[in-house]
Formats: sequence, structure tokens, C-alpha cells
Amino acid sequence: MQIISRSVKDTLNIGRHIVKNLQKGDIICLFGKFGAGKTVLTKGIAMGLGIAKDKIISPSFVLIREYDLAKIPLYHFDLYRMEKEKDILGLGYEDYLNTQGIAVIEWADKLKELLPREYLKIRLEIIGKDIRKVTIRGMGKRYAGYNSLGWAK
Ligand SMILES: Nc1ncnc2c1ncn2[C@@H]1O[C@H](COP(=O)(O)OP(=O)(O)OP(=O)(O)O)[C@@H](O)[C@H]1O
Ligand SMILES: [Mg+2]
Repeated sequence: MQIISRSVKDTLNIGRHIVKNLQKGDIICLFGKFGAGKTVLTKGIAMGLGIAKDKIISPSFVLIREYDLAKIPLYHFDLYRMEKEKDILGLGYEDYLNTQGIAVIEWADKLKELLPREYLKIRLEIIGKDIRKVTIRGMGKRYAGYNSLGWAK
């Protein structure tokens, strides 16, 4: 599914909308260059979970932040500064996945072989100053429903 975002607000709304279809334990992997809107989308997801968007910080100097303020915790990874995959294994990375929370991973391409078997894949592309193309694709059976989902803002 592809959606064109024409503003930060649109991207926040996409994040909020995604939450409606999430289940505890879901993993969302975000792909896209600097400034593509990965953190903005994460803020939208946080809002959907009942976490204030200003609590979500970027750039982060740590690989993971936990937001346990909501009913469903959010595990926000920003792997930009990760040098080796084993760096996150030391943080118990895999313990955060498929739990009672939602995991959102920025720069998920850095995971390489640690990429989960199933996840919700979201790619953000810069089309123009305020325009982003957001491509959402369910990878694996658990997320297959996203590939036939209609979209209503
Ligand atoms: N439609 C849009 N959706 C999201 N962000 C937008 C949009 N239009 C403009 N922007 C701007 O693009 C930037 C997106 O920044 P953001 O921090 O979310 O990117 P990022 O992908 O997380 O980058 P990084 O790789 O540095 O973490 C912000 O400055 C935001 O104001
Ligand atoms: Mg970011």
C-alpha cells in the first residue's frame, strides 16, 4: 500500500492510523534516508498509543528508548549509530520483540541478518519539500492483513 503524505501532520496521522491495526508484540521496521520522516511517523505511532509526541526524541544517542507511559509500551530503536549488529544483541534487542509492547525500529536496514522473520515494513521516500511517499507492506503471515487493508484517514 502506498500513501502520499503532504505534511508532517499527514505523517503523524498515518502513524496514528497504523496503531489501530496493531497487536501487542508487533514489530515495525522503518526504512528511509535522513529526514524522510521516520521519527515523525514514530511520533504518530506514539500518539496512537497515548504517549505525547514530544516525548519521542530524535536524534537519539542511544539505540533504544522505552516509553512505558501507555497501556502498551513502545520500544523505539534508532540504529543509525549502531556499528555492529552485535551491539544491540547486548541490549537484549530480541527480548523487546514479540512482547507485550510495540517495537519501532528506525534504520532497520542496519539489522541485516537480525531483521525479524516477520514485521511490518514501512519505507519513507522524500518526493518534495513536504511530500513523502509512504509504502507499507506486511512481511510474513502475521502482517499479511496490511497488504489488503483499505486506507481511510
Ligand atoms: N510530509 C512529511 N512527513 C514527515 N516529515 C516531513 C514532511 N514534510 C516535511 N517533513 C520534515 O522532514 C523532517 C523529518 O524528520 P525526521 O526526524 O522524522 O526524519 P528521520 O527519517 O527520522 O531522519 P533521521 O534518519 O535523521 O532519524 C522534519 O524536519 C519534518 O518537518
Ligand atoms: Mg529519526
